Amino acid sequence: MDGGCQLNEILDKRELCPNITMFRISSPELVRRAEAGQFVILRAYEHSERIPMSIGGLDPANGILTVVVMEVGRSSAEIVRMKVGERFMDVVGPLGVPTHMKDFGGTCVVVGGGVGIPPILPIAIALKVHGNKVIGIIGARSKDLLIYENELGGVCDRLLVTTDDGTEGIKGFVTTALQQLVDAGENVKFVMAVGPVIMMKNVAKLTQPHGIETWVSLNPIMVDGTGMCGGCRVSIGGKSKFACVDGPDFDAHKVDFDELIQRQAMYKTQEKIAYDTYLEKCKIGLGRA
Ligand code: NAD
Ligand code: FES
Repeated sequence: MDGGCQLNEILDKRELCPNITMFRISSPELVRRAEAGQFVILRAYEHSERIPMSIGGLDPANGILTVVVMEVGRSSAEIVRMKVGERFMDVVGPLGVPTHMKDFGGTCVVVGGGVGIPPILPIAIALKVHGNKVIGIIGARSKDLLIYENELGGVCDRLLVTTDDGTEGIKGFVTTALQQLVDAGENVKFVMAVGPVIMMKNVAKLTQPHGIETWVSLNPIMVDGTGMCGGCRVSIGGKSKFACVDGPDFDAHKVDFDELIQRQAMYKTQEKIAYDTYLEKCKIGLGRA
């Protein structure tokens, strides 16, 4: 890392595909302590909302944290408009429990959908460090929305790519490729999936009859990220857990995905109003366009 850069400074920013931007941030102490599967909370400016972000890359030698942000609302729009050289007000972490790691004695499959692809990179790397054979499956709606193909291709023993519209790789969802692997007799012992809730639900449905240990990284609404507010409550095996301190990883076969889908939609109207107001302010020069 350049000795002149400051804590939480944006060192690099790149649009990976329309609407998805990668940031490399100076955060030496955080990346030194972080492990695969953990997350961070970012706050752009003093009056900004705190938003949880998966870790999309760790470079402890250079003190650099990578996060990949999809513009979906007011807060992500504000982050995406930040420039190289600007500093985040806060980069808090590492938070949550790391993905549980061991030699699983068979093939491990890491599954990433859309903007859920980057967090599977540190997990794939850690699984390799533990001596596992790792197959990656990544999926996007279309070829131009596929991200991290080279990064995961360089780490996984094999990488399968799917697109919903068939413009690259296997035509279908990530579950299409996972089903093909299982049907082909691959000795899958562990699956880790990150992406839309409906994707994680369908991965869990696919692996359960085969008794394949499967974990998912949940992303409910979070406020404090420290287990105090209850905003991130999820139901796991009939018990309430807080994703920020008990997760974000949970045993996929115990997650109440339907409740999570419902809770995630709770503030959709308010989120849309806040986003539209922000974009309007940007247009008339009152926001950070
Ligand atoms: P998307 O809707 O474009 O879907 C990405 C891929 O997921 C699809 O190409 C497909 O392969 C798979 N998928 C979608 N619907 C499916 C279904 N019904 N069955 C099986 N597979 C299906 O995704 P996006 O717009 O990039 O959104 C990514 C999502 O990931 C967001 O909802 C985001 O909140 C979530 N995410 C979660 C985490 C986490 O920690 N859990 C981290 C980052 C992002
Ligand atoms: Fe508040 Fe988890 S975000 S308890």
